[in-house]
Amino acid sequence: MADIILGIESSCDDTSAAVISDGCLLSNVIASQDVHKAYGGVVPELASRAHELNIVPVVSEALSRAGIKASDLTAIAFTRGPGLLGSLLVGTSFAKTLGLALDIPIVMVNHLQGHVLAGFVRQKDVPVREPSFPYLCLLVSGGNSQIVRVDDPLHFEILGQTIDDAVGEAFDKCSKMMGLGYPGGPVIDRLARQGNPDRFKFAKPHVPGLDYSFSGIKTSLLYFVRDEIAKDPDFMEKNKEDICASFQKCLIDILMDKLVKAAKQTGIKEIAIGGGVSANSGLRDRIVAEGRKREWNTYLPEFKFTTDNAAMIAIAGYFHYKAGERASLDVAPVSRAAEFQA
Ligand code: KG4
Repeated sequence: MADIILGIESSCDDTSAAVISDGCLLSNVIASQDVHKAYGGVVPELASRAHELNIVPVVSEALSRAGIKASDLTAIAFTRGPGLLGSLLVGTSFAKTLGLALDIPIVMVNHLQGHVLAGFVRQKDVPVREPSFPYLCLLVSGGNSQIVRVDDPLHFEILGQTIDDAVGEAFDKCSKMMGLGYPGGPVIDRLARQGNPDRFKFAKPHVPGLDYSFSGIKTSLLYFVRDEIAKDPDFMEKNKEDICASFQKCLIDILMDKLVKAAKQTGIKEIAIGGGVSANSGLRDRIVAEGRKREWNTYLPEFKFTTDNAAMIAIAGYFHYKAGERASLDVAPVSRAAEFQA
């Protein structure tokens, strides 16, 4: 009999449910929350209320698109953390209740492991191309910027991570500051494609080892824009494409410098990326170009698996389920990765 796993993701502002059968995707439904756009960032209380409204229809839709009934499920995988506590509580409580009602096991998943393992979701009629172990994953999202060494689906080591802001936060906050909207990553990415990446220079941080820092570049951009607008009030409007292209190039340079260093230090040439920022066209092009130059095998996730989705939670949960892991009904969500005890 096939192992059919329902994945549930509710860590931030996307309510998602997915069904996989023996690792192969049957459905992946995502309800994004537009309510936050007016505030230029995710409002935690609004996010948890929207999850409450969305969770039942999203799970029903995932089961229906998969062509199965709830009673066909083998186990339920849910995101335990890290993320917004109120949001996580909705998915965690739902998973526990459904697991209890169906009398099937529940499996907790670390959201970040989900992003790192997204490339293992198999799809009907899509050729399989998965990294071999060990591989390095550059995990870049609104909450994290990490280089992770993956030895097998259950064993990870964080080789480096941001000491302050995540790279997605830098995209989002700088976009807001420039009046370009939220989420900032896709807007900056789009404008950057029409601009000159070498026109403006921003100071890069000097952080030892494989760690990152993105708060300095944010301040550097803030002062630069403020000073230029003082000289010419239309500076932003006239130059936004070049500013975005130059800013994005600087962020990508910072990410790539440490990734190249990690690959050299470990001797690993299997390189994957994951997380919301892995949708960035400039970053994707650079990974491929560096890969060609350095003889890496590179793995870029499909766009639908870059941002938060339950398919990645279902596949990570599947690996944990096969390893015999089960969560108890008194498990509570955790907001920070450091609190996660899988
Ligand atoms: O993984 P994700 O959906 O949520 C978490 O943070 O867990 O990532 C969201 C982040 C946001 O910061 C958003 O601006 C960024 O991913 N993002 C992008 C692009 N698409 C989304 N950043 C750069 N370029 C993009 N095309």
